[in-house]
Amino acid sequence: MTALLEARGLTRRWGGLTAVDEVDLTVHRGSLHGLIGPNGAGKTTLVNMITGVDRIDGGRVVFQGADVTGLAAHRLASRGMARSFQTSQLFEDESVLDNVMAGRHRHIGYRFPHTFFYTPKVSREERRHRTDVHAILRELDLAVDAHRQVSELPYGRRRLVELARAMASEPTLLVLDEPAAGLPGSDVDVLGEVLRRLRRNGYTILVIEHNIGLLMTICDRMTVLSEGRVIADDEPAVVRESPRVIEAYLGRTDDA
Ligand SMILES: Nc1ncnc2c1ncn2[C@@H]1O[C@H](COP(=O)(O)OP(=O)(O)OP(=O)(O)O)[C@@H](O)[C@H]1O
Ligand SMILES: [Mg+2]
Repeated sequence: MTALLEARGLTRRWGGLTAVDEVDLTVHRGSLHGLIGPNGAGKTTLVNMITGVDRIDGGRVVFQGADVTGLAAHRLASRGMARSFQTSQLFEDESVLDNVMAGRHRHIGYRFPHTFFYTPKVSREERRHRTDVHAILRELDLAVDAHRQVSELPYGRRRLVELARAMASEPTLLVLDEPAAGLPGSDVDVLGEVLRRLRRNGYTILVIEHNIGLLMTICDRMTVLSEGRVIADDEPAVVRESPRVIEAYLGRTDDA
């Protein structure tokens, strides 16, 4: 398997605290890769550095063979990295379709003033994007809600809309921060099924989750962080048995 993403020695400090301490992470093309660890372990900070949302204090990031260390989030997005956030970033007053279309912008080939005059080219492109976006909505079983306002949807459906928006950019790497957070059990099962399906369809996915049971059943590989350091990096069955992982979680029973 070839590496799609390679982070080496990534480090982030907040004052005296080293939140992420020389972390190495390799995500292979076509894999579903889990990132777990107790609260405050540095998972979000690590992913923020990788996706250009946060500054990097040390180390390098290589994506599709190119050094992308320190590139801004929008430049990484145009190179094919898409992410969802731990807290919702949806436009509550807009429809599901419009929210997902917003994730599409890196492919939209027309610019002002075409948009302003609404030329035939615009409507053709617009139609094509809408067709692609409808296909994504169908894939996530969201098509029935396409024209509903996001604020009307139950929480589980909204998390799927966020996933759909990240997919709309046709990313090479999809990075998800706690997609199952706050979901009832039945919705967690739906999400697990969706992630498995995406992986089968060739997506590469890096997912942060506290729901370890979910990750254990769907991931090819898992990296475990504790206090800013990698304490395990292996297949789920091996990670599950790791004494260091068990100790990290037993010491913090609130996360187990
Ligand atoms: N903006 C910030 N300013 C200061 N410290 C921060 C900031 N962001 C994160 N930290 C600290 O960095 C450490 C790692 O935080 P991070 O949010 O990356 O953890 P996490 O593994 O994502 O946790 P959770 O599971 O709760 O989401 C924590 O000690 C946190 O308090
Ligand atoms: Mg986090």
